[in-house]
Amino acid sequence: LATSAHTHENFLQCLTLHSGNDSISKVIYTPSNSSYSFVLKSSIRNTRFSTPSTPKPQVIVTPLGVSQIQETLYCAQKHRIQVRVRSGGHDYEGLSFVSPVPFVILDMINLRNISIDVENNTVWVQSGATLGELYYWIADKSRTLGFPAGVCQTIGVGGHFSGGGYGTLLRKYGLAADNVLDAHLIDVKGRFLDRKSMGEDLFWAIRGGGGASFGVIVSWKIKLVPVPANVTVFTVRKGLEQNATKILHRWQYVAPNIDRDLFIRVLLTGSGSVQYGNRSVHASFNSIYLGGKDKLLPLMQKSFPELGLVSEDCKEMSWIQSILYFAGFQNGQSLEVLLNRTLTVNSYKAKSDYVRQPIPEAALEGIWPRLFDKEAQSSVIILNPYGGRMSEISESATPFPHRAGVIGKIQYLVYWSEEGTAATKKHVRWMRRLYAYMAPYVSNSPREAYLNYRDLDIGKNKKGRRTSVRQASVWGTKYFKNNFKRLVFVKTVFDPTNFFRNEQSIPPLSF
Ligand code: FDA
Repeated sequence: LATSAHTHENFLQCLTLHSGNDSISKVIYTPSNSSYSFVLKSSIRNTRFSTPSTPKPQVIVTPLGVSQIQETLYCAQKHRIQVRVRSGGHDYEGLSFVSPVPFVILDMINLRNISIDVENNTVWVQSGATLGELYYWIADKSRTLGFPAGVCQTIGVGGHFSGGGYGTLLRKYGLAADNVLDAHLIDVKGRFLDRKSMGEDLFWAIRGGGGASFGVIVSWKIKLVPVPANVTVFTVRKGLEQNATKILHRWQYVAPNIDRDLFIRVLLTGSGSVQYGNRSVHASFNSIYLGGKDKLLPLMQKSFPELGLVSEDCKEMSWIQSILYFAGFQNGQSLEVLLNRTLTVNSYKAKSDYVRQPIPEAALEGIWPRLFDKEAQSSVIILNPYGGRMSEISESATPFPHRAGVIGKIQYLVYWSEEGTAATKKHVRWMRRLYAYMAPYVSNSPREAYLNYRDLDIGKNKKGRRTSVRQASVWGTKYFKNNFKRLVFVKTVFDPTNFFRNEQSIPPLSF
């Protein structure tokens, strides 16, 4: 303890010394500061990592500019203190704000400028901006421009783009990372690099390989995509007595192959209480069509009549309103809600899978009883269709390898509000049982997973600086398949002594 207090004092002294006149003290928070706890909690999205026993940072720095990031990295290296970079704080395993060793959080909250070039349909967006802020300002400029990224408005672009990032425009335009044109990054040597100066290897790595292994991403230049002035959304809910299983089975053949203007995801949920015997489960087909319902209805009638979509199910709206619809806001909610960075939080555990062969109907039947389970009181399984643009991009174009041949991705989520380790254990156990049940029906060798749905169950690095590439390949090949090797190569060139590390960072070749 004495050593870590000493380290942190030295680190702070170093920062003050090196910051000259740029008043870094105003953006430094230590546990003795009255705002420390507020700043720390401001973007924690999973209370599983906000308990009294969760390790806390010794210092939080919220830089106002590039030089303060450079100073933080310099002093952290000098005093051997680990840095965790946080943008939106949505990491599923809390890696941006929790570490088992003494650490500093570099929180990008103050770096959230968004600069839109309407003539060229490009945007420079800083890492600390949220998707909600980005969408809001795009819509402020044009009703017919959008960006293919996630559906939750409080996600930070720093982590999201660097891990891939997908949303309802995925089948039409691919991932957020597929639409990145340039980036500004500060590397371990404190150099400020853009695409040209970092080179194509590093630029490749940070578009799906996770930023945390390679440096601090300050901002991204992205390409906006055209969207129609009116899109159509619908949600059709089917219970077991309404053939939910058969329709879900059929969905696997339809959704990845249908017109790429149509995105139909499915949410499997339970409602009611097991205890009171009124629990029921259902599949909600939740969709956006990039066009009017006059075209959507015949398309659905031809390709997916089993769903029984009717005109009354459909709502036409602008693309930005569809963002609110998918984020679960009520009709008529003002767009300003997208600028709100607060999110109701509870504890959760999530996992992901990729489906490459249709899951047999009998296997789908086996999911329902699991949603009836007491331990799954608040759980959701979300199936996202791939195909369309996703199948056209090669597996090695970015580190994100889940492309042609993927029917869709499954995300499993379980939430709880009870406190304590017993509750956590109970719900995580349920999740692991469900994951084991799904094993025969999803991708294997490797069993693929999505980096942005971080899951430490699939493997983690050894504590400390020296992690073997072989050990890391256990989880690395699940997220990246063969691209893992190139990520190791890039890491070895840009961060050979493994300064930027966490439980699932890319290791360099041994040093
Ligand atoms: P956070 O700040 O926690 O960072 C995540 C990781 O990136 C950490 O390892 C962090 O160190 C690193 N990092 C962050 N900023 C960095 C920077 N500037 N430079 C270098 N490294 C940096 N995903 C999706 O694809 N589609 C979706 O619709 C959703 N929806 C969704 C809803 C909710 C409620 C949650 C909690 C999460 C999602 N996600 C998602 C997952 C989300 O994309 C994923 O958690 C992102 O990594 C979050 O990025 P943040 O910047 O918010 O996280």
